[in-house]
Amino acid sequence: MPLRIAVVASGRGSNLQAILDAIADGTLDAEVVGVWSDRRDAFALERARATGVPAHLVRPRDYGDRTEHDAALFGSIDTATPDLIVCAGYMRLIGADAVDARPGRMINIHPSLLPAFKGLHTHQQALDAGVAEHGASVHVVTADLDGGPVLAQARVPVLPGDTAECLAARVLTREHPLLLETLRWIADGRLVLRGQTVHVNGRALTAPLQLAANQRFA
Ligand code: GAR
Repeated sequence: MPLRIAVVASGRGSNLQAILDAIADGTLDAEVVGVWSDRRDAFALERARATGVPAHLVRPRDYGDRTEHDAALFGSIDTATPDLIVCAGYMRLIGADAVDARPGRMINIHPSLLPAFKGLHTHQQALDAGVAEHGASVHVVTADLDGGPVLAQARVPVLPGDTAECLAARVLTREHPLLLETLRWIADGRLVLRGQTVHVNGRALTAPLQLAANQRFA
């Protein structure tokens, strides 16, 4: 059975597009059961519609507070019965109630080598810190912002003269294969999430999987 994925996105949706393309070309055994956004202008919604995937807008302004918005958003997602919820550029905090009700069923892609550079402006944070290496992480969502167990990472060098924009572009080219490879490993049962416990090939994961140059896990 293909892995049933719900995607939550606030913007451009290039990670969503990578998932849709991989499913279309047969390199990911999954189905996107819907795309949800908090923003009417999110291009991710257009990408969903263009592929015939149900697109849902759940706007915070229509709800009293974050808890109510979370309840509406994730309640709507639940009706599509996904196996996994993928936050792909979802730019809102998710409250503990919503996260705790779906233990081990939500992952997020974040543009830094966690635990370094949580939150926003991660590329500028990396430049300001003067690190030689930067990248992206896929982690389990917990109520602790960008703090859940890290499943996998992809690394890029920081080069002399880099700006936040060119560093972001370099990281993004690795984000897509990172997310796809993580989803493949979840889809075929090599990577198993149970609450905050993660098993890889039957053993507890002790360090994040690393994406090699051939775009597979080393
Ligand atoms: C990606 O770089 C993703 O890592 C980041 O937003 C971008 C979304 O791009 N996510 C976060 O910063 C979450 N805190 P996309 O909409 O083109 O997939």
